[in-house]
Amino acid sequence: MTRILITSALPYINGAKHLGNLVGSMLPADVYARYMRARGHNVLYICATDEHGTPAELAAREAGQTVEEYCAEQHAIQKEIGAGFNLSFDHFGRSSGPENARLTQHFAARLEANGFIDERTDKQVYSIEDQRFLPDRYVEGTCPHCGYDKARGDQCDNCGRLLDPTDLKEPYSSISGSKNLELKETKHLYLLLEKMQDPVTAWFEAKTDFPALTQAITRKWLKEGLRDRSITRDLYWGVKVLKDGAPRAGFENKVFYVWFDAPIAYIAATEAWAGEAPEGEMRDWRSWWRLDEGAQDVRYVQFMGKDNVAFHTVTFPGAILGSEEPWKTVDALKTLNWLNWYGGKFSTSQKRGIFMDRALDLLPADYWRWYLMANAPESDDVSFTFEHFSSVVNKDLADVLGNFVNRITRFCVSKFGAETPSDGAYGTAEADLVKDLENRISAYTAALEAMEFRKAFAELRGIWVVGNEYLQVAAPWTAFKTDPSAAAASVRAGLNLVVLFAILSRPVIPASAAKILAAFDLSNDDVPAWPETGGSLLTLLKGGESFNPPDVLFKKIDDEQLAKWRIEFGAPEIDGENAG
Ligand code: 2FM
Ligand code: ZN
Repeated sequence: MTRILITSALPYINGAKHLGNLVGSMLPADVYARYMRARGHNVLYICATDEHGTPAELAAREAGQTVEEYCAEQHAIQKEIGAGFNLSFDHFGRSSGPENARLTQHFAARLEANGFIDERTDKQVYSIEDQRFLPDRYVEGTCPHCGYDKARGDQCDNCGRLLDPTDLKEPYSSISGSKNLELKETKHLYLLLEKMQDPVTAWFEAKTDFPALTQAITRKWLKEGLRDRSITRDLYWGVKVLKDGAPRAGFENKVFYVWFDAPIAYIAATEAWAGEAPEGEMRDWRSWWRLDEGAQDVRYVQFMGKDNVAFHTVTFPGAILGSEEPWKTVDALKTLNWLNWYGGKFSTSQKRGIFMDRALDLLPADYWRWYLMANAPESDDVSFTFEHFSSVVNKDLADVLGNFVNRITRFCVSKFGAETPSDGAYGTAEADLVKDLENRISAYTAALEAMEFRKAFAELRGIWVVGNEYLQVAAPWTAFKTDPSAAAASVRAGLNLVVLFAILSRPVIPASAAKILAAFDLSNDDVPAWPETGGSLLTLLKGGESFNPPDVLFKKIDDEQLAKWRIEFGAPEIDGENAG
């Protein structure tokens, strides 16, 4: 048994996340956590809302709330939606909690003591009309790289490039729209990343478990050369800047930059998890994070979209190394590409695409979970279309898995009653089936271990298909007339397959898997957490177990529904080629 620490990139607090955010971090992390728990490992899956910085302040302003009220409300909403999607966080915390303030201040103090933080005066965009500095998203303008005219001060949503507010052409205040801006001097703390080029490079080179995409992104950054970065902002909402435990002179109206405190919140949220231990349960957060307190045995796996990678492979490790304290750093880092909306971009600010809360109004979580994971944007970006989504749901879930379960359970009831038939013995067909399944299960398992999710779920789909093919050939509905005991044996095999499919499908479609097991009156403790091979795959149900055929497991999406959703979500017209 290994202790596995899992974190998924912290979702910004500014409203429900879209399906691209979900498949980019939280969902694959959840699937991996569920799989690893099933393999008997001690998993701790931590996530939190990323609450600081301009996204939160701007969204609160738009909602007409104080930023504190806004964040508290939105955190509760995101937590509930996460539960709706069956995301199995061990803790879903808040980066605005007291643990994160303390830890962020601690890291900054260590970095400064070790000579990795400097106070510098530089010029920032100041709005004369708003009488304030305009950090990050408080300023918008034209992207110097692609010409997009609604680029934000920290990043261009069109070309994805990271920006500095002073890079923007024709800048204007996103508060008042005013173009009456100037560059004004202000003091900030800088993280001296230039000094860290060598240690960060050495740290990265020692990481053998980073997949190709993670490596490519990091190498690009390292090759361009690390640059010192300002880690404070002229903002109200964030972690306060201290010096020797008191407000730092000249920084009274400044806070740490959101990207400085957000990754530290992985640690802080673990501390908060420990703080919420129920009576009688010992939770030691330091044993997960401190190499000198047990964390040398922990395997730490992070999940994120590609725009987050450099913050996790360069700046955050830089802060950790610079602290010169024995903190755990990431061992394996899974990077996802973009899920696009009809070839364009999902957009939070423009409310374009499907958001997690609305998705659950349309269909239960498992429909989305399956589609997103079986089509995860791993090797490339993937385009979401309702057409593709419904064809995947109708084929994989309704025709292959759902039909199998419903058909065999109903047939059994009609001919043998609502219990597993005991009659008849397995023959060569079942022995061959078991061999085939064992090979497939080992391929499925290997893909999950490697976090290759598309491959994993193509294998799982293949396993469901093999079950259908077996029944097609065994054809108990025909055999029943001539050889009822042979029919009984194949029905028993079929019912065992149903249970096996449920066990194997649990990481990705947990609610449906639980529904199948419940139909057999089986709880998680009654079945192996992961199938035991060695020839025993079709013997869990031995005969005589009663069951209730489950209701239709997955409903097909029909054309009428599709047309309605297309209108409701403003889906663009597509040509035939993109439809499949
Ligand atoms: O890009 C994002 O959505 C950020 N909120 C991710 C933060 S990840 C971590 F460092 F907190
Ligand atoms: Zn751009």
